Amino acid sequence: PDIIFTRADGVKETVEADIGVSIMEAGRDAGVGVEGTCGGCLSCATCHVIVADSWFTELEPMTEDEDDMLDMAEERCATSRLGCQIAMTEALDGIEITVPENF
Ligand code: FES
Repeated sequence: PDIIFTRADGVKETVEADIGVSIMEAGRDAGVGVEGTCGGCLSCATCHVIVADSWFTELEPMTEDEDDMLDMAEERCATSRLGCQIAMTEALDGIEITVPENF
């Protein structure tokens, strides 16, 4: 399934991810500006991404741990998520993700 990233500089990049791969892993490997310093174990917030409104509601709700960690993100907004907590499925094909300038 494809992930459509909008990088912090406004450039859009479509990245093809395997099923089960997280948005953090796909974005990190494609070099679109997603970091993921902790490797996905929910102890950083450098995988912070902003999900397009229409996609946000399609996602599994976040856990309390994710919610707490997201509070560390500088630019948290209503549709913020941690990219390492979203695993790609076929249903998420075409999901639109914005990478914030500062995590
Ligand atoms: Fe560290 Fe997501 S990669 S919380």
